[in-house]
Amino acid sequence: MADFHVFKGPEELSQAAARLFIDCAHKAIDLRGRFIVALSGGSTPKRLFHILAEDRNCKAMPWEKMLIFWGDERAVGPDHEWSNYKLAQDHLLAHVPVHEKNVFRIKGELGAKLAAEDMRQDMINIFGDQGVPRFDLALQGMGTDGHTASLFPDTDALTATDWVVSVIAPPANPNVDRVTITLPVLNAARLSLFLVAGKGKRQIISEIRNDPTAPWRYPAACVKAEKTIWYVDDDAFDSTLADK
Ligand code: 6PG
Repeated sequence: MADFHVFKGPEELSQAAARLFIDCAHKAIDLRGRFIVALSGGSTPKRLFHILAEDRNCKAMPWEKMLIFWGDERAVGPDHEWSNYKLAQDHLLAHVPVHEKNVFRIKGELGAKLAAEDMRQDMINIFGDQGVPRFDLALQGMGTDGHTASLFPDTDALTATDWVVSVIAPPANPNVDRVTITLPVLNAARLSLFLVAGKGKRQIISEIRNDPTAPWRYPAACVKAEKTIWYVDDDAFDSTLADK
């Protein structure tokens, strides 16, 4: 059964996510000497990024041991308002002593195909090419169609075995080509943390909690990492439904 935690609104959810992020980073560094995270895009992580940027414990992390990747990106340059890199850069990375060589942004300006190939090479450089890369933490969101990263319902990317693939502009906002890591990589993560807020996600969250066929419809429900935790706010969670 998926592990759901319900918070009062997006603020409590983001505060808890910040604590988990820092804790996860410390544990990974203690155990393996480095922390490798895949950040998500969308709007929900913005507040988390702010909280981390202002957090003394986060600033004091050994940033030379923190490696930053993204789970997906839009095919736009790093200064574009749609860029997932820009979101993290503006709200978190610009405010902490991260090492530039540890930031592996997906180069959307190359176009989705070349950017996917470039990201694959970055992953090989860091994780090696033996076995599927294991992120210590994969931060994830979920769209109102149940997509996660840029894995959209009923698309070829869902069955891809390559670590990272390009995706033709989905019928979603923004309607632009994407690059995404795939389910084998998401499922190999040590911890997958979903952040989901708002009434628009409530129906899908209910189905993911209670309907075993949800993974047939919603890519987010297909993610089964070593540990998968859902942080949802009370708008996204129907508390009258008992988990099965
Ligand atoms: C993206 C994403 C995407 C996002 C969800 C949730 O680049 O669009 O990474 O998977 O996480 O769509 O987005 P919100 O947080 O805005 O609801």
